[in-house]
Amino acid sequence: MTILETRSLPWPDEAACAATAQRLAAHPALRRAFIELHGPLGAGKTTFTRHLLQALGVTGRIKSPTYAVMEQYPLPGGPAISHFDFYRFEDPQEFEDAGFRDVFGAPGLKIAEWPERAEGLLPPADLRIDIAFDDIDDGEDGGGPRRVRLAAQTPLGVELLS
Ligand SMILES: Nc1ncnc2c1ncn2[C@@H]1O[C@H](COP(=O)(O)OP(=O)(O)OP(=O)(O)O)[C@@H](O)[C@H]1O
Ligand SMILES: [Mg+2]
Repeated sequence: MTILETRSLPWPDEAACAATAQRLAAHPALRRAFIELHGPLGAGKTTFTRHLLQALGVTGRIKSPTYAVMEQYPLPGGPAISHFDFYRFEDPQEFEDAGFRDVFGAPGLKIAEWPERAEGLLPPADLRIDIAFDDIDDGEDGGGPRRVRLAAQTPLGVELLS
């Protein structure tokens, strides 16, 4: 994928993650974006998605789609939001059988954790977000500082970074 523009930000705590989510949610273009979330287990992909969806007005529980692969949320006054986690994804045929191709073809925000597990099935992402633990020794303990890199891969992605 061609990268058009990038931003790198420290996420010293979850509040910083929430602030990034809130800034992105302020862009009307987000409602038609596809965002890929990369990063190790426990990096904060679901946490970021939760803050993003809450900032968009989703109320109620936002579950990790680890088991269901996809969770969808109605968005007041707009198309549904689809949140994917392909971590346990094994059979590409499931993508067709579950109707995910149709979901990606329909309007609305799509967010995918572990998109590398569905490589070749997903459309190009507008925004690629990479979350990394700042200090490898602090990894996977649920706390500690992170660093995030946002990469715009389409003009829509560039708009989201503005
Ligand atoms: N700076 C931070 N940004 C995001 N989350 C943070 C931060 N600091 C601590 N956390 C915590 O780290 C945990 C991240 O867990 P989360 O489920 O979001 O990870 P994940 O990347 O979705 O993992 P998985 O690959 O298993 O789906 C949460 O408990 C969250 O509160
Ligand atoms: Mg997750």
